[in-house]
Amino acid sequence: MQHRSAFDVRPLTPRLGAEVLGVRLADGVDERLFCSIYEAFLQHQVLLFGTQDLPPGRQVEFARHFGEVQIHVMNQYHADGHPELYRLSNLDENGNPNGKHPDKGTLAWHTDGSWRRVTGQATVIYGEVCAGEGGETHFCDMYGAYDRLSPEWKARLDGLRAVHNLDFSRTRRHGEDLMTEAQRREVPPVDHPIVRTHPETGRKCLFLGDHAESIVGMGYDEGRALIEELNALAVHKDLTYEHRWSPGELIVWDNRCLMHRATEYDPAVQRRVVRRCTVLGEAPQP
Ligand SMILES: [Fe+2]
Repeated sequence: MQHRSAFDVRPLTPRLGAEVLGVRLADGVDERLFCSIYEAFLQHQVLLFGTQDLPPGRQVEFARHFGEVQIHVMNQYHADGHPELYRLSNLDENGNPNGKHPDKGTLAWHTDGSWRRVTGQATVIYGEVCAGEGGETHFCDMYGAYDRLSPEWKARLDGLRAVHNLDFSRTRRHGEDLMTEAQRREVPPVDHPIVRTHPETGRKCLFLGDHAESIVGMGYDEGRALIEELNALAVHKDLTYEHRWSPGELIVWDNRCLMHRATEYDPAVQRRVVRRCTVLGEAPQP
């Protein structure tokens, strides 16, 4: 493809993830460059843009190339005068660690916005302040997760749908600063196929993660057990990219064919600030 030469790409693992070299996002991205970036995004699933000096407004601008940017229902995380940005920070007003993890829901494997009818497409995340230890972001490939299922599993999952519910995962994992009534009303539980076809690559992937609460037409406990089993089965070490952050890095990933999680850090000692925005995609189709 002729626009392939717009930048160099260095694979981060043999199966997923690539670093994009030589692009300064703060300079703006024209249509031709974005076309190449999007092509690489579909191919590699996770793109790392090395150290960038990217103000919040520029980050939102970059995300808008992918599509409509979500205004997150948990509005207490909105940041920098841009409601599209969701800031995760453990710093107090003096810039010192406050001892509180901002969102423990991020520590379990999940896919952004799966609790919406129209789920997350790209997530664009920028590392402002990086913990010296921990606070990594891990990605696992859901194409590979589906491909490696046995024929019996594939047959069992055919036609099954899972109910995704942010209130469930927020309460279960974070356990404090729970959703308000108004926030709950805005995002009622929604069901999606467990096996979805990526709308652009046409490949099948598992679509589950930590926001999945129950299975349509199945008893609650049985559904819970199935979800837990599948979420564990989906993660393969050799289909995972583990990113250790340096300040100023930006990562874009495709929520339709990945799960991700953050790793623990000590919020009383380490400092960690990331800002992210999630672009809305489509309602998942089997
Ligand atoms: Fe996330």
